[in-house]
Formats: sequence, structure tokens, C-alpha cells
Amino acid sequence: MIKIAPSILSADFARLGEEVQAVARAGADYIHIDVMDGHFVPNITIGPPVVRAIKRIATVPLDVHLMISDPDRYIDAFAEAGAALLTVHVEALPHLHRTLSYIRSLGLKAGVALNPSTPVSSLDEIAAEVDLILVMSVNPGFGAQSFIPRSTVKIRAVREMLDRIGSRALIEVDGGIDLQTAGAVVSAGVDVLVAGNAIFATPDPAAAVRALRAAGEQAAAQRPPRGNA
Ligand code: DX5
Ligand code: ZN
Repeated sequence: MIKIAPSILSADFARLGEEVQAVARAGADYIHIDVMDGHFVPNITIGPPVVRAIKRIATVPLDVHLMISDPDRYIDAFAEAGAALLTVHVEALPHLHRTLSYIRSLGLKAGVALNPSTPVSSLDEIAAEVDLILVMSVNPGFGAQSFIPRSTVKIRAVREMLDRIGSRALIEVDGGIDLQTAGAVVSAGVDVLVAGNAIFATPDPAAAVRALRAAGEQAAAQRPPRGNA
């Protein structure tokens, strides 16, 4: 089953509660929340108070993507605000194993994200310790960018690595996902589709969630059974 994680970065922030509830009612599996600090990435978005407010009205788990320098300083705050899944960038952390262990010790799922220029091999030593691997298919910082085609090669490599070690971690892809690109990333092995622009910049975000899931499921049905890939 393909999971859909609408990214609120492209939502109407003046109507954030309604937007979150509409996509959740349409069957979204997570709400993807992009946290940016103007340092690790060239944009500033939201922090723990907004996550806490979304948590009050959300009916699905919050998938919080930290695009910030020194994320260790903020893990407690995002955990207390209600994140179910906390994803940190490998490029931001000198002691990734410690950070992931800490996130899990709080009872949260721990994810690790790779920028487009970061090799899959950077995860070799910690792949068994993660619940999710996020493959960035744009350079992080902004919504509505174009999908980087080579991302499918990276997703296949992540899939092979996880299958090799027998991990059931999810693979998530983030950036430029729409009805045109969803099929290729699902064929490559993705489990979770993040989409901002393709959902919230449309007249009917709920219909966009359903259409994206249908496109994902169609591609998933063509995949060889796991293990024979
Ligand atoms: C980009 C963010 C994404 C972004 C995706 O830095 O991590 O989650 O919202 O937006 P779209 O789907 O518009 O590319
Ligand atoms: Zn994101």
C-alpha cells in the first residue's frame, strides 16, 4: 500500500486547519511538515508552536522533516509538540547514530534524509537503525521545484540496501512528486509519496490526494514481489 504525505508547505497558511483536515479526510496517511531554519536551507518556515497547533486538529500522524542545522537542539521540542516521525538530514549531523537512537528513545519513529548530492553509502553503517529513509528529489528549501530524474536511481539503491539487510524501513521521496513522476518513483521502490504543490496548489486538494494514491497504487501493482526485485 502506497502512503501519501501531503506537505503543508504549499497549503494556505491562513486556512491551515481546514487544509490539514481536508487531506486527512481524503485518506492522507501522514501530514508532512517542513521545518526550515534559513541556515541549513535558504528558507524559513515553521517551528514547534505550529506543529503543536496542527497536532490538536490532525487525525493522522505528523511526519516532521527537519531541514535545520544542529537538529539535536530541537528534537525534544518537536517531540513534545506532537511529531510521530522525526526525520533529520545526514548532512547536518556528525553523530547520526546517537541522534537516531535518541529520537527512538523518545518513542518516535526516526527518519534520515539524503540531499540529492549525498550518496546512499553514507547510510551503510546506520541503515538498520532507522524507520524511514527520505530521498530528496529536489534540493531542499522550497516547494514546487522540478523533480531530479536521477532520484529514481538512488531510490533503487536504497531499496536494494534495505532488502539486503532485511530492513522494513520505509522509503519516502520528497520534491517534485506529481501524477507524472509518481509512477517512476514507486516502480523504483518508494513507499511514501510526499507532495506539496501537486496537492495544495490545486483547486481540490482532497481529489489530488486520491489521484496521487491511485497513480502510486497502479505503479505498485506492477512491481515484482519484495525480495525478487
Ligand atoms: C522541500 C520540502 C518538500 C516540499 C515538496 O524542501 O522538503 O517537502 O514541500 O514540495 P513539492 O511537492 O511542491 O515539490
Ligand atoms: Zn519535506
